[in-house]
Amino acid sequence: MNEQVDKAQILVASNRGPVSFSIGADGSLGHRRGGGGLVSGLSSAAEGTDTLWVCAALSDADRKAAAESGDGRIDRVADLGGMRVTMLDIPQDVFDNAYTGIANSTLWFVQHMLYDTPNAPDFGAGFRTRWADYRAYNAAFAEALLTGSDEGAKVAVQDYHLALLPRMLRGRRPDLRIAHFSHTPWAPPEYFRLLPADIRRELLEGMLGADHLGFLSPRWADAFLRCCAEFLRATVDPVRRTVEYGGRIIGVEVHALGADADGLRERAAAGDVAERAAALRERVGDRRLIVRVDRTELSKNIVRGLEAYRELLRSRPEWRGEVTHLAFAYPSRTDVPEYLAYTERVRRLAEEITEEFATPEWTPLVLEVNDDFPRSLAAYRMADVLLVNPIRDGMNLVAKEGPVLSERGCALVLSTEAGAADELGADALLVNPYDVVETAEALHTALSMPAEERSARCERLVEAATALPPARWFRRQLDALR
Ligand code: G6P
Repeated sequence: MNEQVDKAQILVASNRGPVSFSIGADGSLGHRRGGGGLVSGLSSAAEGTDTLWVCAALSDADRKAAAESGDGRIDRVADLGGMRVTMLDIPQDVFDNAYTGIANSTLWFVQHMLYDTPNAPDFGAGFRTRWADYRAYNAAFAEALLTGSDEGAKVAVQDYHLALLPRMLRGRRPDLRIAHFSHTPWAPPEYFRLLPADIRRELLEGMLGADHLGFLSPRWADAFLRCCAEFLRATVDPVRRTVEYGGRIIGVEVHALGADADGLRERAAAGDVAERAAALRERVGDRRLIVRVDRTELSKNIVRGLEAYRELLRSRPEWRGEVTHLAFAYPSRTDVPEYLAYTERVRRLAEEITEEFATPEWTPLVLEVNDDFPRSLAAYRMADVLLVNPIRDGMNLVAKEGPVLSERGCALVLSTEAGAADELGADALLVNPYDVVETAEALHTALSMPAEERSARCERLVEAATALPPARWFRRQLDALR
């Protein structure tokens, strides 16, 4: 083994990492610490320990710059004061097949039940090639983790990109203690069965290589257990949530990731957020605001959200001129054709709504498609109503972060199909995300709610939303490995 390599006691593996790497004009690689709960949570949980975070994804812009710069073999290492970050250098075609072809076009679609099933993929030769690259991508992570881990180290593997990794690690290093956490829903066996039998098995067995499996909601954990019973004939205890398979007992637990209230409040107090808030206020006047913030993502149900807003303006004309909908829909996974088509639908519907209702004095809808984090925080601060209506979502942190920053105590219109509904259901206005009329009525109820009721509900939402902040959430994954 290479004596030069520093071995870590705690390792994290995720496709997207905690730093944004960027390629300078001279081709050199720089890095900037990323925001987000996981990074700040992990940093405090990992304080005083030696942690190595292995990741693989560059942003699209960085990837283009990397392709144009030199031989592309850059030393992709960052040191964030005790926490080291390694960006794997995976060949572009392997990365694309694994990330776009399998993780985002197959696994994401299955777990969110997004296929229009008559047109679902045929799992032919093209799929098999991509699957081989998904394996190779997981194996590249395994190599880096094996080299970088101390005897008995704890490894926290994140999400569907890395479902095969736990088993790969266990096969070669039984001393490691391995956790896998799913940030997505898990599909019930009735839907999961559309995957080829050998692929279903490889995925489930891959995950069961871990000692501990974490999910965001009991719904997803229980669906996983049912898949293990049905497709592996594993012995499952649905009450204690364990799976007995291959002579081992694997624990399955729910860790409902919450918002990082302190980090958010600190970031939202910065000058750029105040500037964005002033610019938005200038644009919308003192009208009531319905806010949504999402990646432009099929599962987020943005089209039905806009239809619900249109329905509100049609059926409740008293709101015309009185309310503006700020819809932030940021570009995401633009290599997946379905996402491009969806983005186009969102844009067209927004135009139709504007054409139908706009007057010289009133802009009914502001659709913003360029990603601007401080502007999102400004919108959370200003929101009267927050609309979160996914057709299926592992958790949805917007539903938790929005109320934390809301200055007027926002009302939350929330889909029953988001994991966040488990914690926030009592004080949100819950809706069936497919039911546009019900969603429109919930928007009306939210806008009409007396201010005292709204702020009382919002206080309780904040309490529930911050019950398990990222640092404690991460600590619970590690503790489960004791
Ligand atoms: C979801 C996934 C994450 C992913 C994020 C953004 O939250 O669970 O693993 O990082 O979406 O998607 P992207 O493809 O841009 O990383």
